[in-house]
Amino acid sequence: MSKLKASKVIREDIKVLGTEFKKYKKFFEGKTFLITGAGGFLGNYMVLLLKYMNDHVLRKKATAILLDNYVIGYDRQVVGEDDYLIFQKHNVIYPFETDRPVDYVIHMAGIASPVYYTKFPLETMDVGTVGTRNMLEFARKKKIKSFMFASSSEVYGDPDPAHVPTAETYRGNVSTTGHRACYDESKRFGETLCVTYWRVFQVPAKMIRPFNVYGPGIRPDDFRVLPNFIEHVIRKEPLPIHGDGRNTRSFCYINDAIEAIFKILFSDANGEAFNVGNPSPEISVKDLAKMIVKLVPYPVKINCIEPPHAVYANDDPKRRCPDIRKLTKTVDFKPRYDLKKGLKRTIDWFHER
Ligand SMILES: NC(=O)c1ccc[n+]([C@@H]2O[C@H](COP(=O)([O-])OP(=O)(O)OC[C@H]3O[C@@H](n4cnc5c(N)ncnc54)[C@H](O)[C@@H]3O)[C@@H](O)[C@H]2O)c1
Repeated sequence: MSKLKASKVIREDIKVLGTEFKKYKKFFEGKTFLITGAGGFLGNYMVLLLKYMNDHVLRKKATAILLDNYVIGYDRQVVGEDDYLIFQKHNVIYPFETDRPVDYVIHMAGIASPVYYTKFPLETMDVGTVGTRNMLEFARKKKIKSFMFASSSEVYGDPDPAHVPTAETYRGNVSTTGHRACYDESKRFGETLCVTYWRVFQVPAKMIRPFNVYGPGIRPDDFRVLPNFIEHVIRKEPLPIHGDGRNTRSFCYINDAIEAIFKILFSDANGEAFNVGNPSPEISVKDLAKMIVKLVPYPVKINCIEPPHAVYANDDPKRRCPDIRKLTKTVDFKPRYDLKKGLKRTIDWFHER
């Protein structure tokens, strides 16, 4: 029997998502979802949403096959297994087979944190390329209803300021040899695989390009800027800024990202890529640090790290902000969580831990 670990803030989030997806219940009823990277930050919320749908909404439960090789390791929110939540340790760079019929594949496996992908560059390339091909091949054989590939906003590299906010039509400014190339280029090639499987085999693949998703459940030691700042603020340690902190980012609360991802999955937008993010505000790293220290009732300093970590010193995009007009035109979606609200919920979760 699977149980949910008590985390008030995550349970509230999942209830909001479950309520929203009641009107989409025909897409879940009795279906089988295969999720790769299910032990990760986004994967975990997906598992929790499916569990909520089974427990509260669906007459005929959905089944989830949940793959992860735990290269990044994760403290799962769902403990135990049941007939409907099937966790399996599997490295997607090897083909996966099952006798079960499968309706949807959500390919989230990846190595997303700059610090981890510089540590595991070959594994990062393999999961985005070989792993994506294996999952597309699986989808082709199973004749699935829809396939989702988690690409990244990093496919845009360091965008020309004339293309910020960045639309899906922008082709990117990416280094093939920089410290980030293993990640960026693997996601770009992964997208090419998806459109090719759609054009050649009619595998109904969609691609998402998430822009800095954050929220409860993100790994505190992930080294992505926002969890890193919150981990420091909780410990009352100075927030580390690599470089001058003038680079900008736009942050998307996890519930907004999960809502957008499932709505794209259930759409007919095959062979299409979508930005998934919240364009407002586009905020500098320094201003983000200032905002976070203001959200706690004790003083915390901000420190500039010189020289910055190599991955931040080279090729770190100067600006990152999505144009989400294509997303909002295609599916019924509007971000619900502004940055302050999302940060408060994330800080609450870090405290709950
Ligand atoms: N969170 C974001 O802001 C963001 C932004 C852009 C893109 N993405 C992409 O979205 C996906 C999910 O992101 P996340 O934040 O949940 O990342 P995450 O690191 O929390 O989760 C990814 C999971 O994939 C697993 N994994 C890695 N290689 C694997 C392999 N070869 N086989 C099986 N499992 C493997 C890891 O163990 C991890 O549990 C990733 O592909 C990431 O690149 C995320």
